[in-house]
Amino acid sequence: MKKSPEILDIIKNRRNTKIFEDREIDNSQIEILLESAIWAPNHRNTEPWRFYVVGKGSSLRNKISEGIISLQESSSGNKLTQDQKDKIYDQIYSSPPLIFVYSLLGENDEITEENYGAVCCAIQNIQLTATEMGLGVGWSTGKICKISNLDEILKLKDQLKIVGVLSVGYPKSNSKKTRKDFKTITTWL
Ligand SMILES: Cc1cc2nc3c(=O)[nH]c(=O)nc-3n(C[C@H](O)[C@H](O)[C@H](O)COP(=O)(O)O)c2cc1C
Repeated sequence: MKKSPEILDIIKNRRNTKIFEDREIDNSQIEILLESAIWAPNHRNTEPWRFYVVGKGSSLRNKISEGIISLQESSSGNKLTQDQKDKIYDQIYSSPPLIFVYSLLGENDEITEENYGAVCCAIQNIQLTATEMGLGVGWSTGKICKISNLDEILKLKDQLKIVGVLSVGYPKSNSKKTRKDFKTITTWL
């Protein structure tokens, strides 16, 4: 039987990372991830990915925390206590570098959808390259992406749709994952 290509091991070892070591990563490592991202397939060569990197020491972290606090307050209809707010500030302050990944809107829905697909491929490139470098990436479309004035905080330049925020660092632990056998979901005709 033919040996599986090495890339299959990288693909299988990639995990969505949520818990990171304290160890910092360099901007040069992030640059390698971004370099891998932009080689993703993209129909019509729209190169629709846009990246906004919020580093560890960025002052934008306070604004992001404030955004999450107002999001939580408006969705629950209750004011958060100072303790609850402090927890959010701490969590955002201590999180690893964040890469906000956006997709360019197209001139019609079809192009917008193709652009989104291409940006998802770019994120997969980032995740696989990170895995090979011993790094972990957490892809989230959660609260932080839903902050009402996120566009303003990040000073977006184009008409963009958020695809996710990636936390990047050295993984402390990863959960085990399984997949159904592809044979159960594949039809050969
Ligand atoms: C479009 C997209 C959005 C995601 N958003 C979140 C998220 O908001 N929070 C989260 O914990 N994981 C998120 N994930 C990661 C998935 O939960 C994760 O890929 C899944 O559990 C499978 O685990 P694995 O990636 O380690 O194989 C997202 C993944 C994708 C593709």
